[in-house]
Amino acid sequence: MSKKIVFSGIQPTGNIHLGNYLGAIKNWVEMQDLYENIFCIVNSHAITIKQNPNELRQNTLNLACTLLACGIDIEKSSLFVQSDIDEHPALAWILDCNIQMGDMSRMTQFKDKSQKNSKNINVGLFNYPALMAADILLYQADLVPVGADQKQHIELARNVAIKFNRDYGKAFKIPEPLIIKESARIMGLDNPQIKMSKSVKSPNHAIFLLDSNDEIERKIKRATTDSSSNIIFDENRVGIYNLLSIYELLSKKSRSDIEVEFENKGYGDFKKALCEVVINFITPIRDEYLRLQNNKDYVLNILKDGAEQVKPIAKATYDRVKELVGLQ
Ligand code: TRP
Repeated sequence: MSKKIVFSGIQPTGNIHLGNYLGAIKNWVEMQDLYENIFCIVNSHAITIKQNPNELRQNTLNLACTLLACGIDIEKSSLFVQSDIDEHPALAWILDCNIQMGDMSRMTQFKDKSQKNSKNINVGLFNYPALMAADILLYQADLVPVGADQKQHIELARNVAIKFNRDYGKAFKIPEPLIIKESARIMGLDNPQIKMSKSVKSPNHAIFLLDSNDEIERKIKRATTDSSSNIIFDENRVGIYNLLSIYELLSKKSRSDIEVEFENKGYGDFKKALCEVVINFITPIRDEYLRLQNNKDYVLNILKDGAEQVKPIAKATYDRVKELVGLQ
């Protein structure tokens, strides 16, 4: 029996932090033996927000290096850059003509993002979900791993695919969301009320995969806890709960073992142990990232090969769609 096809997309904006890793990339790495994976760096989605061209190019390469350093294995999976395959925007156009304004207008992410970027509410930002639907549908994906915030976009992709298949003839597989579980929701170290985010500018908010050991130590030392002293998994004590969750995920120890380990110990001891676990985890990734950065052509070649691998799948779907619609 052939493996299910999984399509994952990630935007090349800024550095990857522990929240991105534990929330998404870690799952991607682990999925590689279970499914047939296609990983896409969605740079065309990134330009719905104003980008500096050189930075965007650099961020795209940086993200490829990060994903490879984290364990995306091109022997098992495909990794490519969205803008290398022209069928993405081309299919998005045809989907556009089959999505009603009313349905597109209900997308909550558009509302959020246009509030945050009130100076640049462009048509691409509105259209974002059609391009995302094209990403997924071109590859006949069975599953799409996303956070809960992206569920509405997957729903739209499913609806347009169902409608297209019904109106014109079968062109698309209907994808299912693979919702990443909440336990991997990592919160800001300095403010555990909010999700760890690269757009929060305060210096002790997020641990990035490329942070130095000193930076990691500083951020963990300053991380918000509370005035209790026992180190247990209590969801109501958000600060220490978040730190314990990071420890749990990186050390792979069970919650009860961790609670025993820190029985009668203080926050200082726990934070020291957490630093060690985080540094041990990050060091090989950081080293491999730097090695890849020094071999830029090697990485660019990987991305080129990745695009060549997936191109025939995208082309086959797009050609069929064109014919069904009467454009060919
Ligand atoms: N919208 C996704 C996000 O912001 C990124 C994305 C674009 C994506 N195309 C995709 C995710 C296709 C999954 C499948 O996280």
